[in-house]
Amino acid sequence: MSRAPRQIFVTTALPYANGTFHIGHIMEYIQADIWVRFQRMQGNAVNFVGADDAHGAPIMIAAEKAGKTPQQFVADIAAGRKQYLDGFLIEYDNWHSTDSPENHALAGAIYQHLQAAGLIESRRIEQFYDPQKGMFLPDRFIKGECPECHAADQYGDNCEVCSAVYAPTELINPYSALTGARPELRESEHLFFRLSDARCIDFLKTWTASGAVQPEVLHKISEWLAAGDDGKAKIGDWDISRDAPYFGIEIPGHKGKYFYVWLDAPVGYLASLKNLLEKRGESYDEYMAQPHLEQYHFIGKDIITFHTLFWPAMLHFSGRKVPDGVFVHGFMTVNGGEKMSKSRGTGLDPLKYLALDMNPEWLRYYLAAKLSAKNEDVDFTPADFMARVNADLIGKYVNIASRAAGFINRRFGGRLAALDAEGQALIDALRAPLPEITQNYEAREYGRAVRAIMALCDRVNVYVDTHKPWALAKAAENDARLHAVCSTCIEAFHILTIYLAPILPRLAAQAAHFLMVPPPTFEHALKNLGAGAQIGEYQHLMQRVVQKQLDDLFGTQPTAAPAEKGKKEKAPQKAAAPAAAADGSISIKDFQAIDMRAARIVECSRVEGSDKLLRLVLDAGEKDASGAPHLRQVFSGIAAQYTPEELCGKLCVLLANIAARKMRFGTSEGMVLCASGADDTPYLLQLPEGVQPGMRVS
Ligand code: 2FM
Ligand code: ZN
Repeated sequence: MSRAPRQIFVTTALPYANGTFHIGHIMEYIQADIWVRFQRMQGNAVNFVGADDAHGAPIMIAAEKAGKTPQQFVADIAAGRKQYLDGFLIEYDNWHSTDSPENHALAGAIYQHLQAAGLIESRRIEQFYDPQKGMFLPDRFIKGECPECHAADQYGDNCEVCSAVYAPTELINPYSALTGARPELRESEHLFFRLSDARCIDFLKTWTASGAVQPEVLHKISEWLAAGDDGKAKIGDWDISRDAPYFGIEIPGHKGKYFYVWLDAPVGYLASLKNLLEKRGESYDEYMAQPHLEQYHFIGKDIITFHTLFWPAMLHFSGRKVPDGVFVHGFMTVNGGEKMSKSRGTGLDPLKYLALDMNPEWLRYYLAAKLSAKNEDVDFTPADFMARVNADLIGKYVNIASRAAGFINRRFGGRLAALDAEGQALIDALRAPLPEITQNYEAREYGRAVRAIMALCDRVNVYVDTHKPWALAKAAENDARLHAVCSTCIEAFHILTIYLAPILPRLAAQAAHFLMVPPPTFEHALKNLGAGAQIGEYQHLMQRVVQKQLDDLFGTQPTAAPAEKGKKEKAPQKAAAPAAAADGSISIKDFQAIDMRAARIVECSRVEGSDKLLRLVLDAGEKDASGAPHLRQVFSGIAAQYTPEELCGKLCVLLANIAARKMRFGTSEGMVLCASGADDTPYLLQLPEGVQPGMRVS
């Protein structure tokens, strides 16, 4: 890679400094962190910054309630950030605050440039004022009766009962949520950013169509820019000032007036970068003036307009660099699309996750496997999480190292052998998709990258199962073969580790230590460790998820239904079994709880004493502790339809997580799936060749 490194500036949305991180924040930070680590592994230079969004009326009011100054209040929140970021292996280069000298200076300068460009206008407006509190009330702090459905206690901007959207002045019997006082309408002078100016509309049309936003986002925001019946765009001018008392940045030349929090919040991206560069003794102005500097913002779908309309216009008309990309993601849901809810026991608390000693790389892997470049929600389903981590990440990838390292260390002094032609061909096949994998990371198509990497893991596992190192190890004359096979596995593990390193940085560092190689870059995937390379002692790299952790994480004690009169209250039960709704439909969560796997029938025989049953021995890609295949015995009532000879070697579908059943002839450890009609004749579901034992059927 001889090209000059790209210079990249990356941010995530700045969280309000009045609360701790929730899982949605963590998901966004992990998404960005993976991308940043990928870019660095490509040799690019990245500055990755975050900050607290400190200003605004809600924070001022929360600080007052807590008996603190706003500054002390946000400092206390900021002090709690590190445990989350370190805990989930999210490595910002800097974490700063919008209430910083850099932000005050930059926000003021941007405003003055907009003013000089003729894009700031002053207007008198009427607003609700709380005479008891002595302040103008933000919409969220005015409540009253909905003018549409007459529901009581609705917010000033929209009704939570009928979803009507209205102005606070339309509320019936409005009152201040702060004091209960009846608000008065008062006039005040406000400053507006003239976004409806033709120059702004023209610029935004060009910028939004430049490829800086995802197609589905462009579709959404185009509505704001399109001309309506009056020939004007829907986007209006933006009220950027608030009256004192307000915790914010005072507007130059307007004593007692402050920037609305959303004006100075994104400026915080630049402030955090400036703070970082100056701490390093570098020039912010020179950095920003680089012609090929790339600037990207990761954000959630709820703050699209601020980042794709207001922010680029602020930057452009103040003579600054505009973003090269705004990457919008969806929200996190649970159990197949439900909104997370603490009271329903479906909230995923990030600190609880860490306190339960759950591995952060499980979550990073799971999220990566589900993330795409699209603005779509990402679902967390406990059974799916457990299956993907245990069966895919550990079963398919981590186990490659554990199956080979012991032999290399115990039998061959920890040194690798030269690969034979078959081994080298496998390694070459693992290298071939490198461009596709890096392209998927670059495009934030992490799910695709993970699928491609897991398909490669499957190939390596087929190689191991074909060559059976545990069987070779039984006879000394197989030593050379055993050495070559295990060396191939270690070379394969090295490549796969590099592919997964942006997602699993800690595991990659541990693996690099064990393989005695420097921290990986993608270039390293192109070269064999080589004959004679020394590896270290293998330490187990990752534990499996256990059900109890998930039960504890979600506190799966069902909330007791109110006891019916005269009936005894039932003792709380463990997580309820999936149940069909009244119309017979089940949720995706219920479906995902069913673990169906491809399995090869390695033995098949009649069962003495039964003319209905066949005894199948199945390879479903499972291994025991020593790495040898773990086979399952399953009895199936298909003897009338099939002979053992015709089924032996066939691929079928195993229902793997049905409880084992003790039968007269032995224990049945699963069920094979069949189709049957009215006469109940079972037809075994068979899978095409090419499918590997252990693959999930979904
Ligand atoms: O929605 C929010 O949580 C805002 N605090 C995000 C601000 S992002 C940026 F503009 F600072
Ligand atoms: Zn209503």
